[in-house]
Amino acid sequence: MNSLLQDAARAGASVGMAADTITITGGTPLNGSVRVRGAKNLVTKAMVAALLGETPSTLRDVPKISDVRVVRGLLGAHGVKITDGDEDGELILDPSAVESAHFAEINAHAGSSRIPILFCGPLLHRLGEAFIPDLGGCRIGDRPIDFHLDVLRQFGAIVEKLPSGIRLSAPQRLRGTKVELPYPSVGATEQVLLTAVRAQGTTELRGAAIEPEIMDLINILQKMGAVISVDTDRVIRIEGVDRLEGYTHRALFDRNEAASWAAAALATEGDIFVAGAKQAEMGTFLNVFRKVGGVFEIQDDGIRFRHPGTPLNPVIIETDVHPGFMTDWQQPLVVALTKATGVSIVHETVYEQRFGFVDALIEMGATIQVHRECLGSQACRFGQRNFQHSAVISGPSALRAADIAVPDLRGGFSHVVAALSAEGASRVSNVGIISRGYENFFEKLTALGANFTLEA
Ligand code: EPU
Repeated sequence: MNSLLQDAARAGASVGMAADTITITGGTPLNGSVRVRGAKNLVTKAMVAALLGETPSTLRDVPKISDVRVVRGLLGAHGVKITDGDEDGELILDPSAVESAHFAEINAHAGSSRIPILFCGPLLHRLGEAFIPDLGGCRIGDRPIDFHLDVLRQFGAIVEKLPSGIRLSAPQRLRGTKVELPYPSVGATEQVLLTAVRAQGTTELRGAAIEPEIMDLINILQKMGAVISVDTDRVIRIEGVDRLEGYTHRALFDRNEAASWAAAALATEGDIFVAGAKQAEMGTFLNVFRKVGGVFEIQDDGIRFRHPGTPLNPVIIETDVHPGFMTDWQQPLVVALTKATGVSIVHETVYEQRFGFVDALIEMGATIQVHRECLGSQACRFGQRNFQHSAVISGPSALRAADIAVPDLRGGFSHVVAALSAEGASRVSNVGIISRGYENFFEKLTALGANFTLEA
C-alpha cells in the first residue's frame, strides 16, 4: 500500500471504526473565535475534477478532514500525484500519470466515503472504465445511487453490478444527453457536470441542484475550459469540449460548519466569531437564526454569532434544497431549540431518516416527538411512507448529562453541543466520526473554552 493509501486507510479507520470517547463537563458558554476553511462538500468534488485536466491543478483552503484524506487516497490509487503546496491548506493535484484503475486498492476504501461515485465520469473519459466500491458516508436513510447510474447510462456508459461493487465501461466516447432529475440531487447534479464537460456534444440538465458548492464546482470547471450556463428554473446546459486544463482555485467556505458553530453559540449561551463565514451563502440560515432570537454581526472577515441573553423563540422550519434551509443545519439547531420557550417544528424533507440523533437528546431531558406525518407547510416525498421525518420540540428544557454515542457527522456535532450545554459530565463515544467534516474539532473546542477530556 502506498503512503497516500495508508493515509486514507487511517482516515477510514478513524471515520468508521474508532470508538473515541470524550468526557464533556457542560455549563460553560462557548466564547471565542474559530476559522472555517473550504467546504467539505465542495473540496472533495474539486479534487475529483482535477482528474479531468491535462495539467496540474492547485486547490486552496483545503481543510484537514478525513473525507479529504479518503479522496486523496482514492486519487492516489488512480495515479494522481498529490503534493502539499507552499500555503497551508494548498494541494497540487497532478493527473498526468493516470493510466489505469487499480480496483483492489479502490475497494480498500469501501464504506469510507460516497465520493467514489463521482469518479465515474472523469475515469470513463480518461480510461474508458471505472469501478465503484460499496459506498460509505453517513447513515442517514437509504442514500441510493439510482439517479447517478441512470445518468451515466444516458451518457452511454455500460453499468455492471458485481458482488464487490459496480463496474462501468464506455466502449466509445460518452455523448451529451438530455437529463431530467426526479429530485434536485446534489450528487447527481455533480455527476452530470463532471461527465458532460468532456462528453461529445451538448447536455441539458433539468431539475438540477443549485447549491453554492455546485456553483463553485461550475466556477472550477469553467476555469478548466468547460462551457456551462446556468439558466432559470434549475436548468444547466453544458457544451462538451475535447480538452480541459488544470485549475487554480480557492475553495468556497464551509457554510455547514459555520452554521454548526452558530447553533453552538445559541445552545451554550455563548458568543462565537466564525472567521471565513460569508453572508451570501448563509442568508436562509441567518433569517432563522434571527427568528430564534440569535444575534449576528456580519464583518468583512467573518460573522459573529451570539446568544441574546434573553429567552429564545420557537420556530417552524422545513429543510429543503438550496435556496431552502439546508438539511445539514437542522441537527445543531435542534439542540438550541430545546432551550427555546414554546413548541418548534422541524420538517425534514431531504433525507427520510435524519432524526436518529434526537434519542440521545431525549435521554438528556429534551422533550421531542418524532412523527411520520409532514408537519411543515407542504407535503414532501416522505409523507404516507412511514418515515419518521417531522420533529416537534417543546422547550425550554434543562439538559442533563448522559452517556451517548455519535450516530453520524451532523448528529455527532449536535450531541457534543448538547453535552456542552447540559448540567454535569457526559461521555460521548464515537466522536472520531466528527473529524470527517470538522477540521481541528477538538482544538476549536479548546479555543472556545469547552471543558472536556479526550480518552485514548
Ligand atoms: N437520492 C436518490 N437517488 C440518488 C441520489 C440521491 O434517491 O441517486 C436522494 C437521496 O436519498 C436524498 C436526496 O436525493 O433523499 C438528496 O440527496 P443528494 O444527492 O442531494 O445528497 P448527496 O449528494 O448524497 C450531499 C452532501 C450531504 C448533503 C446533501 C444535501 C456531499 C458529500 N454530501 O449529499 O452532506 O446533506 O448533499 O445537500 O456533498 C453532510 O455534509 O453531512 C452531508 C450529508
